[in-house]
Amino acid sequence: MAFDLDDAAGYGRWRDQKLSSRPIDLTQLVVEVGDIAALTASESEALRAQVRRSNMALYVETKTSADRDDKLAVAALGQHFGLRSLDRNHLADDDGITPLAVASEGARARYIPYTERPIAWHTDGYYNPAATRVRSLILHCSRPAAQGGENKLMDPDLLYIQLRERDPDLVRVLSQPGAMTIPGNEDEGMTRPAMTGPVFFTEDGRLAMRYTARTRSIEWHADAVAAAQIIREILDAGGADIFTGRLQAGWGLLCNNVLHTRERFVDDPTRPRLLYRARYHDRIQGS
Ligand SMILES: [Fe+2]
Repeated sequence: MAFDLDDAAGYGRWRDQKLSSRPIDLTQLVVEVGDIAALTASESEALRAQVRRSNMALYVETKTSADRDDKLAVAALGQHFGLRSLDRNHLADDDGITPLAVASEGARARYIPYTERPIAWHTDGYYNPAATRVRSLILHCSRPAAQGGENKLMDPDLLYIQLRERDPDLVRVLSQPGAMTIPGNEDEGMTRPAMTGPVFFTEDGRLAMRYTARTRSIEWHADAVAAAQIIREILDAGGADIFTGRLQAGWGLLCNNVLHTRERFVDDPTRPRLLYRARYHDRIQGS
């Protein structure tokens, strides 16, 4: 068991395999496809293989029609990879796919995703209970911002390796069930209870990560404070395993909920930035 701290040999085999196939730059994550709503068998396999390797792929569409409905296309892409259980939040549209654009009024305007402000490192749904964990994510760009709005990306497996190589005890404290608590929150009649859980955990033999770099409204277990600080330092240092990409129209991220940021952007109100986000409780099939 690679993620058992007592199994150095099993971990070593997984680590070596992971490191030998890791991408060296962003372009190695890219898979060109015609249309995400109508993938060919080879496009599908290329995406799956890339996600298997890095937990993420960046697709670049080359053959879409001007009147294509991007939201329906994102839904079709999810279905293609066996993603059936959409994570609905109260700000998502009824079909569970959220258009991300600057909102100047209404409930959305109060949340950072709907502003031009940057969003720090996180995995999606870190405040969700275990029953509705976000295991995969599609982020599709219909229209980029006038300036900025890049995403930084990191495969959580590679962060785990960096920590375990440094000191296995860092992994141990971050895997404790009480490692990270997001306090409860009341908003617009919705009450979210406090959510406590580990940062690293395994499901079906795969590593998963629940994380946010936020420093307000978060409680780290006393044993995990130093380890959380080391994660922040690694992410802020921007090493070779961190990639920065700016999605263009028709590009998107298909991933097993990897670590990501969103950088600050400047919107052109006549051509506002528009991304569609779909979060699923399923992991990408075959990855
Ligand atoms: Fe996110």
